[in-house]
Amino acid sequence: MSAGSAIDLPTWRHRHLLDVDRLTWPELETLMAVADRFATATADPATKLDVLRGVNVTILFYEASTRTRVSFEIAAKKLGADVVSVTATGSSVTKGESLIDTVRTLEATGTRMLVMRHATSGAPYLVPAIFGGNVINGGDGWHAHPTQALLDLYTLREALPAPVGSEAGSKAGPGAEAAWSLRGRKVAIVGDLLHSRVARSNLWTLTAAGADVWACGPSTLLRGFEAWAATGAGGRHFTATSDVDAAIRDADAVMTLRIQKERMAGGLLPSLREYAATYGITRERLRGAKPDVLVMHPGPMNEGVEIAPDVAEGPGSLITSQVHNGIAIRMAVLALLDAAGPVA
Ligand code: CP
Repeated sequence: MSAGSAIDLPTWRHRHLLDVDRLTWPELETLMAVADRFATATADPATKLDVLRGVNVTILFYEASTRTRVSFEIAAKKLGADVVSVTATGSSVTKGESLIDTVRTLEATGTRMLVMRHATSGAPYLVPAIFGGNVINGGDGWHAHPTQALLDLYTLREALPAPVGSEAGSKAGPGAEAAWSLRGRKVAIVGDLLHSRVARSNLWTLTAAGADVWACGPSTLLRGFEAWAATGAGGRHFTATSDVDAAIRDADAVMTLRIQKERMAGGLLPSLREYAATYGITRERLRGAKPDVLVMHPGPMNEGVEIAPDVAEGPGSLITSQVHNGIAIRMAVLALLDAAGPVA
């Protein structure tokens, strides 16, 4: 079934999504509201919209991915786009072609929107200068993973009502729509922060939503985060600590991060077994959090290392919802960037 583009999109000023640090709180609210509308409009899996009809979207990934790659592909197809997926291992990159030449080649074949993942931090920032379409960062090195942060925020918005007594809870006027935020909420991010583009992007969105964010891991995996906290974190509610019990205490949500063995230099961790014993998120450790604490993980997980299997599958786990919500959020990103138009 195909449905017309009955969704009026709001004005959007960004032509690219390279990170979330340039998005204002009203823009984050807009993105989530648009995602709501796409989720409703495509609740029937057979429904396809024509918002991106005639638009060629290329998903160019230089690093492995399941969730981001698949959900971008589904999101683009639900919007009616023509989609091509290119992995570095199956392309002329293996013959030595540069990123710039690859992008120019894709543009010459009609690519209008480029979703890219690259192992080098900052790589997507090179592309807008040589590509006339829209660029979306699907994860670059340790630096940023903007759509993961957006879908995480969207998932928390779905799972956590605004706290009683907050501006949202007390908003006056019959029929007035309450503004959602994370003010008064504590979110702990526990794991390998050093190598985590997910953590770096989430710091912006979670603190923009008003959350009290605690970053936690062994000090070797907190480098840079402790220093940022010590400078006052630009006035954001942000703490970095190696004390996992302090980080989790009274938390509303705990976001666990993968130990990124593939990016880890020697000497950062004594052993995975020791990490799991000291920082792994278990039921027992979660007893210090709020009784109905929510648990998140961007995936892929090392179960038994950073998260116990019964926590990953337990009642407070949002992990499946995170994956599911990635589709609506990525639909919103694609549609809004397209509405902003290509670079003139
Ligand atoms: N969260 C995330 O980026 O997962 P993938 O590597 O599977 O895309």
